[in-house]
Amino acid sequence: MDLPDPYRDPDLVTLYDTDNPAGRDHRYYRELADALGARTVVDLGCGTGLLTRALATGTPRVTGVDPSPTMLDFARRQPGSERVRWVLGDAATIPPTGDIDLVVCTGNAVQHIPTDGLPAALRHVADALRPGGVLAFESRNPARREWQEWTRPATEGERRTPFGRLREWLEVTVAEDGRVVLDAHNVIDDGEDRVYTSVLHFRTAAELTAHLLAAGFSRVQVDGDWDGGPVTDASRILVFRAVRG
Ligand SMILES: C[S@@+](CC[C@H](N)C(=O)[O-])C[C@H]1O[C@@H](n2cnc3c(N)ncnc32)[C@H](O)[C@@H]1O
Repeated sequence: MDLPDPYRDPDLVTLYDTDNPAGRDHRYYRELADALGARTVVDLGCGTGLLTRALATGTPRVTGVDPSPTMLDFARRQPGSERVRWVLGDAATIPPTGDIDLVVCTGNAVQHIPTDGLPAALRHVADALRPGGVLAFESRNPARREWQEWTRPATEGERRTPFGRLREWLEVTVAEDGRVVLDAHNVIDDGEDRVYTSVLHFRTAAELTAHLLAAGFSRVQVDGDWDGGPVTDASRILVFRAVRG
């Protein structure tokens, strides 16, 4: 059974873009779209669509796909959203047109896809891309073991928000074989603790590369940062680019 959407709280979704502003990652994906001369882009796991809408300023056909109705509703209400086609769903909802220039999957969204669902998801992406089209995404590096930093003492904080005073913290309840179950706690105005659980899958560069090759991708490139640096155990993220063969 599918877990409930961890992004389903309409209050908390309004904070997402402030907490995750456009940064080096957005520049990386923008530069990639420009370098490819991409005219058709799909943003899989687009969330609030901050990057999706930015990509749509220079790209004629941009589609944002996300399984969270709350995230997508927020995205649809933002300025510039009319330039994007928004689709509620996951990779299976991307039509197999074979004419897309670039598919991006950002904000570590790929870690939400369970390992048993990843082969089919990557095949859907490959079927949507044109030959020579590119899939680009990033995923946290398991060697860095970032989940060990997601403890209450390390993450607890309090702030004022438009909907009241928010006390928040993270807690990992399971970390086993690359599967991390993460509870995000949110207490608003000392009311009930709203707990949203994410299951995140940490996969190595070798594991993700094998999945990409099996799905029909070639020329898989893995970097350890946004500037093309090498992957080391200290790399926070693994940045992937793969070409549809
Ligand atoms: C951390 S957010 C990233 C959002 C956005 N891409 C960004 O860069 O800010 C992860 C997103 O992945 C979406 N997601 C969850 N499961 C997914 C799946 N199976 N396929 C695609 N996206 C998924 C969530 O709904 C959420 O919007």
